[in-house]
Amino acid sequence: MKGIILAAGAGSRLFPASLPISKILLPVFDKPMIYYPITTLLLAGIKDILIITSPNDINNFKKVLQDGSQIGARFSYAVQEVPRGIAESFIIAEDFIKNSPVALILGDNIFHGHGFSDILKEIAKRKQGATIFGYQVHDPERFGVVEFDKNNKAISIEEKPKKPKSNYAVTGLYFYDKHVVEYAKSLKPSKRGELEITDLNKIYLKQNKLKVEILGRGFAWLDTGTFDSLLQAANFVQSMEINTGMKIASIEEVACRMGYITTQQLKDLAKQYKQNGYGLYLERMAQSITQHH
Ligand code: DAU
Repeated sequence: MKGIILAAGAGSRLFPASLPISKILLPVFDKPMIYYPITTLLLAGIKDILIITSPNDINNFKKVLQDGSQIGARFSYAVQEVPRGIAESFIIAEDFIKNSPVALILGDNIFHGHGFSDILKEIAKRKQGATIFGYQVHDPERFGVVEFDKNNKAISIEEKPKKPKSNYAVTGLYFYDKHVVEYAKSLKPSKRGELEITDLNKIYLKQNKLKVEILGRGFAWLDTGTFDSLLQAANFVQSMEINTGMKIASIEEVACRMGYITTQQLKDLAKQYKQNGYGLYLERMAQSITQHH
């Protein structure tokens, strides 16, 4: 399975903080925001990843992430000229996707929770249909909203409804089968002029091929869309990391745990951070991963 990270929005809600650099490269505590969605894809077993950026930001992303081989992955890059909608990703990515199933994650979506990697690995094995995630929120009108019947089967999805039919928001992580490009091409722009991801999901729903996995209360799905929520996300990561002594979304650590790089490669990566906290952490992980194997 292949992966796409959509990181092309203007980020204007965070101006002037995101004037100098894409919001998706701003730090969430101790690492750039994009480390979080990269980690989610790596944990799903996805190493072949296309990063879609705005024309202005592509070089910054390349500088930070390179070709991915340093963590045993493959990163390629494409540009979305104008934010014409999330579903446009699949049209931009047509040559990259070819006939493969594909996962899409929005660059500003942060997921964290026990057992998440097992769920991801399971879903990444599915060859048919689509899988999305529902998460209970207090302000569903800000999101795509999914409604369930008594048997927890999804029966409707609406984009930012004024009167939400449930409290379940659709998160920014989507898994699709090989038909996704064809379906994305059939979409018409919405009233706000975008190719809506919700319209794409409705195509799968109509065919009875949409699975909605519920992420329970034990999961964190963090928002970074406002100044406050960005800081809250950083505070969340900081307190989890201090409490557990383990980092959330260290792409180098995850790559090593997944077997994409060796512990020796992890030690070498640690050197580039010299003796700062991040580098020392990677060294410690290289030690402990060695001991366990
Ligand atoms: O975060 C989950 C939500 O994401 C879903 O519940 C909604 O169904 C979905 O439409 C989307 O809603 P948002 O209002 O958060 O979408 P927004 O326009 O803010 O875009 C989300 C991210 O994707 C943001 O970082 C910008 C980027 N983006 C967006 C569009 C429309 C692009 O890179 N290109 C685009 O064309």
